[in-house]
Amino acid sequence: MSEEKKVCIVGSGNWGSVIAKIVGNNVTASANFHNRVPMYVYEEMINGEKLTEIINTKHENVKYLPGFKLPENVVAVPDIVEAAKDADILVFVVPHQFVGGLCKQLNGKLKPGALAVSLIKGLDISDKGLDLISNVIRKALGIECAVLMGANIAPEVARENYCEATIGCRDREMGRLLKEVFEAPYFRIVVVNDEQTVELCGALKNIVAVGAGFVDGLKYGDNTKAAVIRLGLMEMVKFCEEFFQSNVSGYRADEFMRICGMGDVVVTCYRGRNRLLAEAFVESGKTIEELEAEMLNGQKLQGPPTAAEVYTMLEQKGLTEKFPMFTAVHKICTGEKTPQAFIDCLKNHPEHMMS
Ligand SMILES: NC(=O)c1ccc[n+]([C@@H]2O[C@H](COP(=O)([O-])OP(=O)(O)OC[C@H]3O[C@@H](n4cnc5c(N)ncnc54)[C@H](O)[C@@H]3O)[C@@H](O)[C@H]2O)c1
Repeated sequence: MSEEKKVCIVGSGNWGSVIAKIVGNNVTASANFHNRVPMYVYEEMINGEKLTEIINTKHENVKYLPGFKLPENVVAVPDIVEAAKDADILVFVVPHQFVGGLCKQLNGKLKPGALAVSLIKGLDISDKGLDLISNVIRKALGIECAVLMGANIAPEVARENYCEATIGCRDREMGRLLKEVFEAPYFRIVVVNDEQTVELCGALKNIVAVGAGFVDGLKYGDNTKAAVIRLGLMEMVKFCEEFFQSNVSGYRADEFMRICGMGDVVVTCYRGRNRLLAEAFVESGKTIEELEAEMLNGQKLQGPPTAAEVYTMLEQKGLTEKFPMFTAVHKICTGEKTPQAFIDCLKNHPEHMMS
C-alpha cells in the first residue's frame, strides 16, 4: 500500500480557511491521505486570545471565516516551518505579497519530493521583471507547483453553493492527486495542462474587477460593465501573448473560456472585495489604503497591487497605450487620474479602432 500523503495549508485568510474546510473533509474521506491537516496561521491576538488557540479549540477562524466550523483535523500552527514539515503537498493560499517571505523560511526545510499548488491570485515583480507566483515558489523551493483558480468567492464556497475551479498542472498524475485533494460535490474541478494561462487569468482578472467597481461607483450600469468585462478580457489575452509564451500550443484560447477565465472575470466584476472597494473609492473619495483598513478587517486587496506590478512592466516596455484599461486602473488607484478617466479609456479603447 502506498504511503498516506500529508497535506499542509499555507495560509488561513478567507479563502485559505474555506480551502482548509474542504481539504480537511476530503482527507478524512480518502485512504490516500493522512488525516491531520496542519494550517499555517499568521498569529494575531483576537480580544486577548491567540487566533491559533481559538481555531484549535472552537474550530472556527473567527476573524477570517466567522460562522463556519472547520473540521477538527485541521490544526492551526503559527510556525510555518513546523506546519510544513513532513508535508507531501503544500497548498499556498496567502496574499501574494507574503509568499516570498514564507518561501525564504521554508527553503531547505521541506520533505524531499514535496509538491506545491498555488491558489494565490497575483504576480511578482522584481528587478528581474514580472513573474508568476508559482514560479516564485518553484524557484525558491525547488519543487513542482501547480495552480488552482476559479470563480470562487470564498463565502459562497463556504456555504457549499455549487461552483467550479480549474487546476493547471503539467503532470497528469499530480493533477489527478490534486483533484482528489480539492474536489467536492459542490466544488467541481477540471484539470488542464496550461498552468501558466490558468494562473495569469486568476491574477489579471482582479485588475478588471477594480475597473468594474469604478463603473458601479460612477453609476454607469450593466451595459458599461459588460463592456468592461469584454475589453478587460481582451487586455488579459493580449497581456499573456505579450509577456508569457504559452507552454502548451493551441490550448490558450480555451483557458480564457473556462471558469478560471471568463467565469472568474464575470464573478469578480459583480461580487468580491476588489469591485466593492473600487466602488467605495469612487463614492467616498478616500484612498485605497484607507478603505482597505476600514472595510476589509485584515483581508488584503489584490487588484491595485497587481495593477501597479503590471503597469511597471507596461511602462518599461513602452506598452501603456496598448493596455489602456490596465493603465487607467493603476493611475486612478494612485490618484494620478480621476475615476471619470476610466470611462474615457473605454470610449477610446484601441479595440474600437480595429473595426
Ligand atoms: N477570498 C476569496 O474569495 C478568494 C478566492 C479565490 C482566491 N483568493 C486568493 O487567495 C489568496 C489568499 O486570500 P485569502 O482570502 O485567503 O486571504 P485574506 O485576504 O482573507 O487574509 C489575509 C491573510 O494574510 C495573513 N497575513 C497578514 N499578514 C501576514 C504576513 N506578514 N505574513 C503572512 N500572512 C499574513 C492574515 O493572517 C490572513 O490570513 C489571495 O491571493 C487571494 O487573491 C481569494
